[in-house]
Amino acid sequence: YADDGYRLWLKYDLIKDVAKREAYARSAQFIVVSGNSLVLKTAADELQTGLQGLLGKTIPIIASAGNRTGGIVLAFNKTPGTNNQLVNDEGYQITSKSNIIVSSKTDAGVLYGVFALLRQLQTTQPIDRLSLTSNPKIRYRLLNHWDNTNGTIERGYAGGSLWKWFELPATVDPRYRVYARANASLGINGTVVNNVNASARFLTGEYIEKVAALANVFRPYGIRIYLSVYFPAPKVIGGLKTADPLDPEVRKWWADKAKEIYTVIPDFGGFLVKANSEGEPGPQDYGRNHADGANMLAEALAPYDGVVMWRAFVYKAAGTPDRPKADRFKAAYEEFKHLDGKFNKKVIVQVKNGPIDFQPREPFSPLFGNMPQTPLSIEFQITQEYLGHATHWVYEAPLFKECLDSDTYVTGKGSPSGAATVAKVVDGSLHGYGLTAIAGVANTGANRNWTGNPMAQANWYAFGRLAWDHTLTSETIAREWVNMTLTKEIQTVKTITDLMLKSREIFVNYNTPLGLSTPWTGEHFAPEPWQNQSSRPDWTAIYYHRADSVGLGFDRTTTGSNALEQYRPEVQQRWSNPETCPLPYLLWFHHVPWTKKLSTGRTLWNELCTRFYTGADSVGWMQQQWAQVKPAIDPEIFADVTGRLETQHKEAIWWRDAWLLYLQQYSRQPIPAPFKKPE
Ligand code: GCU
Repeated sequence: YADDGYRLWLKYDLIKDVAKREAYARSAQFIVVSGNSLVLKTAADELQTGLQGLLGKTIPIIASAGNRTGGIVLAFNKTPGTNNQLVNDEGYQITSKSNIIVSSKTDAGVLYGVFALLRQLQTTQPIDRLSLTSNPKIRYRLLNHWDNTNGTIERGYAGGSLWKWFELPATVDPRYRVYARANASLGINGTVVNNVNASARFLTGEYIEKVAALANVFRPYGIRIYLSVYFPAPKVIGGLKTADPLDPEVRKWWADKAKEIYTVIPDFGGFLVKANSEGEPGPQDYGRNHADGANMLAEALAPYDGVVMWRAFVYKAAGTPDRPKADRFKAAYEEFKHLDGKFNKKVIVQVKNGPIDFQPREPFSPLFGNMPQTPLSIEFQITQEYLGHATHWVYEAPLFKECLDSDTYVTGKGSPSGAATVAKVVDGSLHGYGLTAIAGVANTGANRNWTGNPMAQANWYAFGRLAWDHTLTSETIAREWVNMTLTKEIQTVKTITDLMLKSREIFVNYNTPLGLSTPWTGEHFAPEPWQNQSSRPDWTAIYYHRADSVGLGFDRTTTGSNALEQYRPEVQQRWSNPETCPLPYLLWFHHVPWTKKLSTGRTLWNELCTRFYTGADSVGWMQQQWAQVKPAIDPEIFADVTGRLETQHKEAIWWRDAWLLYLQQYSRQPIPAPFKKPE
């Protein structure tokens, strides 16, 4: 039976190994749940559904275990079995003695525990001697959907929006529930349903009602809804003359709006805001700053349990006659650092990875570590805007981890390495933030398999797992996902996991090696390094790569924009010297002569050629590896990925040739052996 990916990792196929199945069944003879919490009921239902598939039996749900043993007890709120010291509000414990007890302080924690228990079975781990404790390290774990009222998705590559705004609220697509299940299984507890380039319509009564219908579906899964807001909404839909955040009428408008929303969505999560960024209006239009804007919204939310997520993705036109030396890399720090401590305590500043824009590889943003009094969250992009859309296979956990594990060195000299990683800023442990959050720009769409490329489901999965626990390794997450989604055949799991782990580096090699970047090229698909036509210099490719007859790369040292000064001395020291700057970041910080010998022993030009060629060739290797997994994979998924890899290979070669032929005009060097093709 062909599944073509609809069930994601929530595949509960019958466990084929009879002995194993029976062993599980002996520990899962009944499910105990008491109380009338909606989320707890979901937990019991999910467990029953999962066990039904995996064990092939309907496991009864009962209200009390009495003297019975050999069952699963779902317990919350100080019930025996919970060691309250060890778990935070959403954390869970699973212990197996005479019964398996899944316990938590909250019903949501029990739900997460249930999915963890199911994961044990799905990955064929023993469950008879379990002693598992797990806590989410970050409190707000959100997907951000860049979905529009007309059903399109900005930077979406898996079809139209999941949300059928025209049909809501009267018609509620059953798929919304499947979406909620998938997120809850990872511990995602919030979702922003509309684009950061927000339409004011989402704040009209008409749309609030539609959004409320979605919230009703998500609530039993512990998922709260958030909205992106259009800052001038008080003008556009409120009829006011201004949207000045210090104007009393504007403030009242937002307070009334919050009240209207909470009346129909009592657990509404809050607002996400893109302001004074890429043409979006904001408080600066009225001579105010980001804190003025964010604090006004926070005050409107004061009576409720909601937060404001204010994005730091801002940059003014750079390279223009009035700002010839300005560097987009520095912009977020310049606009936000001095506001540290000025934000209302309900505000979280959401910082993009990285300083420019979701490039295949960027150094971490220098804001991390530099706003100790302002909760900073990190925004990752799951959708593959710059990573080959839904065609190219890129497993993103290594990209997320590279950023999270980067050391900011803000604890200073002599502190143990890794003491001040980006992850420790974001999870609040470094600065003691009162709020902690992480966001992933979703890669889901209306395609039957959710993500276009079935392998991209792993990126949604990886984001969710890391949002819960950033210490998990990319490999653990990949192996888990493959086992749950594709196959349990040991050799195949190994082959696919290996492919996944190498895929991002392969992409970087044929797309933007050695720290190249080209954010402004058409659809953000193929590199177009020659692109130099735009209304703004910083919206051209040449602004970023700076190829000339001397060399390549953006000088961000003291002789250039000096963006490096935004980092701590330990980071500066390493990155400001081209000899010690890690090669993957080299061209982010240095304008390097074509003939300069790198640590690999090759010149810059020859190293570039080597990376572009091996990158493109490696897609051929991916194809060969994939061909081997055929016997163990669903035929539709196998054929789908085979086709995508074929296109990926062709495009990797195009991209390699496009870059190298363009750069060759400046380097005036031949393609070296062994890459040079016979004439
Ligand atoms: C990128 C992307 C835009 C998006 C913006 C943002 O620039 O190309 O589509 O709106 O990021 O994150 O706000």
